[in-house]
Amino acid sequence: MIDIDFSKPVMPRSGALALLIPEGGVLSGLAAELDRALGKSLTRALEVSSFKGEHCQTVVIPGPSNGLSRIVVVGLGSLKEINAHRVEEAGAAAAAALSSDPHAYLAADGLGAVLLAHAGMGAQLRSYRFDRYRTRERETKKPKLQRVTILTEDYARARAVWMPLAALAAGVERTRDLVSEPANVLTPAEFAARAATLTELGVKVEIFDQRDLQKLGFGALLGVAQGSANPPKMVIMHWLGASRSGRVGKSGKKAVKAKAHEPIVFIGKGVTFDTGGISIKPATGMEEMKWDMAGAGAVTGLMATLAGRQARVDAIGLIGLVENMPSGTAQRPGDVVTSYSGQTIEVLNTDAEGRLVLADMLSYAQKRFGPRLIVDLATLTGAIVIALGHENAGLFCNDEKLSAQIVAAGLTTGETVWPMPLGRAYDKLLDSDIGDVKNISGGRGAGAVTAAQFLQRFVDTKKTHLPWAHLDIAGVAWSTKDDGVTPKGATGFGVRLLDRLVAEHYEQNSP
Ligand code: BES
Ligand code: MN
Ligand code: ZN
Repeated sequence: MIDIDFSKPVMPRSGALALLIPEGGVLSGLAAELDRALGKSLTRALEVSSFKGEHCQTVVIPGPSNGLSRIVVVGLGSLKEINAHRVEEAGAAAAAALSSDPHAYLAADGLGAVLLAHAGMGAQLRSYRFDRYRTRERETKKPKLQRVTILTEDYARARAVWMPLAALAAGVERTRDLVSEPANVLTPAEFAARAATLTELGVKVEIFDQRDLQKLGFGALLGVAQGSANPPKMVIMHWLGASRSGRVGKSGKKAVKAKAHEPIVFIGKGVTFDTGGISIKPATGMEEMKWDMAGAGAVTGLMATLAGRQARVDAIGLIGLVENMPSGTAQRPGDVVTSYSGQTIEVLNTDAEGRLVLADMLSYAQKRFGPRLIVDLATLTGAIVIALGHENAGLFCNDEKLSAQIVAAGLTTGETVWPMPLGRAYDKLLDSDIGDVKNISGGRGAGAVTAAQFLQRFVDTKKTHLPWAHLDIAGVAWSTKDDGVTPKGATGFGVRLLDRLVAEHYEQNSP
């Protein structure tokens, strides 16, 4: 992670300088001062580069005559359209152009503290790199950016705005690290061990091993895990930020509840590697299935974020960690398993395993926590990639209000989602000839919908209406190219989206 700090706008004499300039390309503030000091050569450089201040348009001026290593000018686009996410993208573009300087300054005349902090967020998110396994990289090839100092008169307020964003950036980084790890390193046990480090942030972490899951009757999850030499785990992370929100009880002490009250529950699919099992996948591209735990990665990063910024919410994160392997002990197509809910499932395709893992956690979470809502995240289907590509996650939701809240959070954070249907006609396709439900429809149509529909069979809304949303993140969990605030690789999708959902709608107001 790079350091982001804030200080008074004084013209830097060394390092690099990034200037964010709105559409029109007019220089003001520090940019105008610099242009004067350089005898208008900044203006000339922008002219010959046809710089118009379009969003993320970037001009690099190396070796100016005033001691700076380079000047990077990035367009902010129209001020009418400006928002936190667009400024993050501009900050990201600046960071990408600054990667050969250890220390950079950033100025954006006219932007307030909030937007400037988001410029820092963009720089932070874009500077992410997973380089644990590069041992021979030449020094000259390594990115050098270590620190970005944001120059503003309002530096004290910008610093305060940055604090929770720093926790969010750390949460996204945690998710990206988890998702990037290869499956020989990140086994269910190793993932659980890393999730356990959230205790350092004040999260209570429970780890269930195979025996615990057998006792509970997690037949669906265990069926997926039974072909692997790496036994499954379930991890439950508790963040009780509302219960310890500093409300003072009669005794004069802070009221601290031991148990979450109607918490928000997040559930993540954590298939540490998905070979398909006996219904084995083709060899080409199978290595991508190390990312099949991105839902669990997002839930872990989200819980770290909520704790890191002391969010005033009671939130529970459940992740189901299994490896889907073919072997002599593996589950066969046609097997019937009994889920935690009691429903029997005919497993017609062992590659439709994510829904089996989620099913048990969905029922368990409802029974144990009585949640006010549940959101699950899963790299669940290839079909959602066919439907939406890499631009939106699929959103399946049984509640109009929750659906609208998630769509809106997507637009503010840039982690966009697109609503997809649920319905009785799709549900019928899952009736089994031998048990209660089968894990595939058998047809070729609407694969992402029938997967969501399968999950809904484990969301019990008979007694009370439980708002539930399922995010199919198969198309957005990783990126094959550098794009905005996400460098190529694991995106950390879901952390910023759901952090915003919580902050916007489910957090108690400050006392
Ligand atoms: N993990 C995959 C889904 C996936 C595919 C994620 C491609 C990312 C990229 C999931 O477990 C799976 O294999 N789904 C099957 C379901 C099918 C057997 C009904 C699929 O989408 O092909
Ligand atoms: Mn699969
Ligand atoms: Zn899978």
